[in-house]
Amino acid sequence: MCGIVGYVGNKSPKDVLLEGLKKLEYRGYDSAGVAILNGDRFDVYRAEGKLSALSEKLAPVRFSGRIGIGHTRWATHGMPTEFNAHPHKVKGISLVQNGIIENYAELKEELLEKGVKFSSETDTEVVAHLIALQMDDSHDLVAAIQSVIPKLRGAYAMLVVSESEPETIVAFKAGPPLILGVGEGEILLASDVQAFIDHTNKAVYLDDFEIVKVKGAHYEVFSLDGITLKKPVVALDLASEKSDKKGFKHYMLKEIYEQPRAVANALTPYVDIENKRLSFDSLGMQGAPTPKEHLQALANCKRIYIVACGTSFYAGLYGKYLIEPIAGVAVDVDIASEFRYRDPVLEKNAVAIFVSQSGETADTLAALRLAKEKGLTCLSICNTKASTIDREADLHLYMNSGLEVGVASTKAFISTLSLFNLLALYLAQSKDLLTEEEETRLVDGLLALPSLMEACLAYDTYFKEAAQELTNYKGFLYLGRGHSYPIALEGALKLKELAYRHAEGYAAGEMKHGPLALIDQGMLIIVICPRDKFYEKTVSNLEEAKARGGVVFSIGSGDDKQLKSISKHYLGIPEAPWMTSGILSVIPVQLLAYHLADALGHDVDQPRNLAKSVTVE
Ligand code: F6R
Repeated sequence: MCGIVGYVGNKSPKDVLLEGLKKLEYRGYDSAGVAILNGDRFDVYRAEGKLSALSEKLAPVRFSGRIGIGHTRWATHGMPTEFNAHPHKVKGISLVQNGIIENYAELKEELLEKGVKFSSETDTEVVAHLIALQMDDSHDLVAAIQSVIPKLRGAYAMLVVSESEPETIVAFKAGPPLILGVGEGEILLASDVQAFIDHTNKAVYLDDFEIVKVKGAHYEVFSLDGITLKKPVVALDLASEKSDKKGFKHYMLKEIYEQPRAVANALTPYVDIENKRLSFDSLGMQGAPTPKEHLQALANCKRIYIVACGTSFYAGLYGKYLIEPIAGVAVDVDIASEFRYRDPVLEKNAVAIFVSQSGETADTLAALRLAKEKGLTCLSICNTKASTIDREADLHLYMNSGLEVGVASTKAFISTLSLFNLLALYLAQSKDLLTEEEETRLVDGLLALPSLMEACLAYDTYFKEAAQELTNYKGFLYLGRGHSYPIALEGALKLKELAYRHAEGYAAGEMKHGPLALIDQGMLIIVICPRDKFYEKTVSNLEEAKARGGVVFSIGSGDDKQLKSISKHYLGIPEAPWMTSGILSVIPVQLLAYHLADALGHDVDQPRNLAKSVTVE
């Protein structure tokens, strides 16, 4: 993962790099560093911990140069210490990397045999040594990099500066994103346009195995074999996304509160609000015309593959529970890291859907490329516009959730669920399974969601008060049937990643097949049990757990006396139609994880060991 940023221009590189890194901190936050020209040297400053530690260290430092590179790290090779932080400097070469060099051990062995000494445990330092050695022969940074790239295996984006060419940054990539920002008399490079959008909206997206040389306010892009490439400069229609807690204790809590608005923003572009009808005419990229042949493929498809990771995968699973019964289209849901390597047999004329908040998740992107290679129409559901997954898909649905800062995804998840509701209806409509009256009634039901969600936010106080008691449980079992099952999985994931307690999501009917053995007083059973067709079966499963001493926390519909009688804790979500009840039950499970983590004193917005954009496998 990691975030990288580079700057050449007339502003203070220290300020520009720190601002850029702040915007990229979601990509990693265990250490950070910069290399900035000072006289004829690139001075390197690094600090363990959050970016604020680096900012403090740099506060009194002045640099005479107008060029520098920076990095915020999510450790892959080597502990998150200062000596493993980037940039890595070898002789006059300083380098930052987002990615992984998979054959670094082999390369390191060869370098050790040549007598090279290492000062870190990282894979990145290997590349710095390789370039430095090559510079002894070629004395030209681009040429040195051109001869090093073929030796590297993995996925990476790198920025390199050299004291022998102090006005130059050379950047290259194979996998993770790297974008050039072309400003007035200045050039920026970053993993995400948000790191430079305050300076310029003109961007050049680098492709894999391209090399860019930035010198002063000029840049030149080369292929690996040195051919100069003409790359389009895209004018981005993106605003700078400012992060602001707006008075909330954490971004996550603020983002939970933003969910009613996020759902409204997700639904609105695909609905004719006045007539309460579906409007799926604008599935082009950011307002561009919809490619008709792909829209046709979606409308006619008989099978859908949904591919994603983590929370986005659970959103995809929820999609299956809606699309199959509503539209009669077979849906397979895959974890991207499995899909890409299991040689999937994909039906012709199927459509593949890729869900990604960041739009940069490496496995999801690789899965999309595989599906495209196999000739499938690919639909992306992304939050980050112009991200790689968004740019490479054929059709686009946007979450429109706005910036999600909390590492644990909340509003993007819930927006995706609402988009799957719409998509299920659209597919049913395309197959003539929906009358106009039904369409209007169901769309109306979806449009009512935000106000029902507002009501669920009132559970905030409830969980705040209950949190202390919940800290007494050592484990948490989340149960659900039907479309409540993916919500159970998501609830367990939220609790694991935020509260660092063991939690598992299960289909309630699976309890007898093993998990019942786990039941004791230290295990809280959280069940999502709205009044749907599974209600009685789920209640029976709860009774079985209760009979074995299980402690039950149930989330039901309205004032459910039966559920109350078997539960230690009961929460009733507003009564709602089946299609929308799933979305409402997400809010309590998010609030539970949030308040438990907060009561345990954890860093809710930046949980340990995680990052928001996973650009490595
Ligand atoms: C968990 C979480 C992750 C992401 C996963 C995929 O709260 O946020 O599980 O859902 O890393 O990320 P995207 O959606 O950006 O592809």
